Amino acid sequence: MSTVMQVPTSTSQHSASTSRKKVTTLAFRQKKERGEPITMLTAYDYPTAMAIDKAGIDSILVGDSLAMVVLGYDNTLPVTMEEMLHHARAVARGAKTALLIGDMPFMSYQVSVEEAVRNAGRFLQQGGMDAVKLEGGRDRADAVRAIVGAGIPVMGHIGLTPQSVHQLGGFRAQGKNASAAKRLLEDARILEEAGAFSLVLESVPARLAEYISKHISIPTIGIGAGVGCDGQVLVTHDLLGLFDRFTPKFVKKYANLHDAMNKAFAEYIDDVETKRFPAPEHTVEMSDEEWETFLK
Ligand code: KIV
Repeated sequence: MSTVMQVPTSTSQHSASTSRKKVTTLAFRQKKERGEPITMLTAYDYPTAMAIDKAGIDSILVGDSLAMVVLGYDNTLPVTMEEMLHHARAVARGAKTALLIGDMPFMSYQVSVEEAVRNAGRFLQQGGMDAVKLEGGRDRADAVRAIVGAGIPVMGHIGLTPQSVHQLGGFRAQGKNASAAKRLLEDARILEEAGAFSLVLESVPARLAEYISKHISIPTIGIGAGVGCDGQVLVTHDLLGLFDRFTPKFVKKYANLHDAMNKAFAEYIDDVETKRFPAPEHTVEMSDEEWETFLK
């Protein structure tokens, strides 16, 4: 992937994807330097990726949140490399401009550095992604270094790391006391030193996220980490109100598509049961002449 600087020039290109150039990891860094917020959302399928890309997003994450919001699991642990690649390819077909990031699923990078590099490579070779993301701080520095050494951009992810849900004792905010906060700052610096191009900060106190953002050179992307991060990410199904099971406190809902879908499906069922659908305008006809010939 070329890292030649190609930065969108406007922050309000809501349907101007044709004029936008491909966003690169370098553009991330330059946005941070200019103090311009970086925008990121998740996508798992072709039409959603297309709509997000068209709206002018900087980056699309094919998140392992797929496991919960699309596949219906209780956490992100069950999703596999094959499932992630399947969805990554659909997103890559739909989004031409955003920087595409594939989220490395549980056990695809923890067993060995070699496996981490191989699986990261699959996201680029077989998934159409431009970069990968993986969870963890100092324990993952070797993997990050090796993947970056193979020429693959890596986004780190610290704070609440959902793949460690059992170790963390649930989906809970991190870095809330001084020693945990110091450890998170150290982890951020270690990942920066290992070559990560950016860092997700999930569910950490806003003042800590802002402090980390100001004390590392790579852009931070916050989720539940306040406005002081260099960019923001949300799970698209949360933003759209598509995932009805629960909504984290840090989510802003921009629509309620679950209710809209429910209403549309109920109307369809009623239309079919009362024979209001299909109406003549939804029906194929043949001429009376052809019909008479058919009946003969
Ligand atoms: O999987 C995901 O969607 C994520 C975001 C919450 C950052 O990791």
